[in-house]
Amino acid sequence: MNRLRIGFVGAGAISLRLMPHFQIADTAERALVTAVCDPVIERAEAAADKFGAPGARAYASLTEMLASDDVDAVSIGSPIGLHYAHALEAVKAGKHVHVNKTMTVTKAEADILIAAAKEYNVRIVASPGEMLRPHNRETKRLIESGAIGKVSWAACGAAFGNYHEDEPERQGSDPLNNVDPSWYFRVPGGGPLYDVTVYALHGLTGVLGPVKRVTALSGTLVPERLVNGKPLKVEAHDNTLMLLDFGGNTFAMAFGTAAGSLTPGVEFDFSARYYGTDGEIWGLTMNGEPYDYPGREIALTAPDKGTQSNFGGNEWILPHISPEHRDLSEHHVFEDLMQLVDWVLDGTPSPATAEHARHVIDVIECAYRAAETGMTQVVTTSF
Ligand SMILES: NC(=O)c1ccc[n+]([C@@H]2O[C@H](COP(=O)([O-])OP(=O)(O)OC[C@H]3O[C@@H](n4cnc5c(N)ncnc54)[C@H](O)[C@@H]3O)[C@@H](O)[C@H]2O)c1
Repeated sequence: MNRLRIGFVGAGAISLRLMPHFQIADTAERALVTAVCDPVIERAEAAADKFGAPGARAYASLTEMLASDDVDAVSIGSPIGLHYAHALEAVKAGKHVHVNKTMTVTKAEADILIAAAKEYNVRIVASPGEMLRPHNRETKRLIESGAIGKVSWAACGAAFGNYHEDEPERQGSDPLNNVDPSWYFRVPGGGPLYDVTVYALHGLTGVLGPVKRVTALSGTLVPERLVNGKPLKVEAHDNTLMLLDFGGNTFAMAFGTAAGSLTPGVEFDFSARYYGTDGEIWGLTMNGEPYDYPGREIALTAPDKGTQSNFGGNEWILPHISPEHRDLSEHHVFEDLMQLVDWVLDGTPSPATAEHARHVIDVIECAYRAAETGMTQVVTTSF
């Protein structure tokens, strides 16, 4: 195999943003979009026509797509509550899997999926690969070298008002821009923890290591939202604050709220603030001064001058973002998918592992359980 044949599961917002990357020459040499499935078959067909390799096919279900001989791997971009079933079905069909965050909703599902991937000898890359980011790796190195002393606490998360309602893929009337975002507010899989705080938790645990205990408060602050002008009853919690214990009396706070913003410009506090006995690191600065990290000189040439830790120019320095990919979107998810391509074609393992994803899912599940029971939860997974 010298080119991986990829089938997209779900042709919604994320898949539609990823597929154009596969039309760029450096990617097309390595991987092809050969199939798309979506129960909205017009969407699957339109996406396969517009972004697929010549002859790419559309299917109304994953089962039909897997029954064909079109794909070696899948990229799962269906609603989060369906990820487990889709990933497991693909693994059992012998396909390699990239799965958007979060990989599953529960730790028990993640356990089964990881065991199945081993049994069927297929690779799983689980987004978000936050430790692929050079500044996160440098933060880890600085903290381990004692640059800010002993870490006492950290804070990270995501907080905003409106949510996926406003994305361009949801505002129109044709199949590629009338995608319904209601699932983001339903259970299982809805709510900001699984969708956005997950980035912060991957970075935080990538830097500090596994969480040992979790406690939290959580609930639904806004019980009804307007989605495309229609009222939608919100089932998922939209407001969660959790406290994490890393052992040795190092603690962190992680938040996920779709019911109130942070200061404009820092809605996504994915790169934590780390406070130590001898200093602090916040995003791209240490003690208020920018610190250096590999690729920073390129990030500084971007329109945002590399000022945003997780977006803007810092997307440009992910390993597979050649200049031709810079004007496209969702660089980090494309990067994760290319991690799978490299793993399958070259045998290069990715740090965006299913085991790391399982740990973060365990933390999220523990947070909800802690909020429900009022009891601090012990996290049993590691990575
Ligand atoms: N939207 C974003 O900004 C964004 C960014 C990064 C990652 N993600 C992640 O990508 C994933 C998908 O999010 P999205 O915003 O693209 O969702 P979306 O609602 O835009 O699209 C989901 C698509 O899945 C389809 N679908 C529903 N049931 C299906 C089934 N049984 N089989 C196949 N397809 C099915 C829907 O018809 C829809 O086209 C989530 O994990 C999300 O967290 C989203």
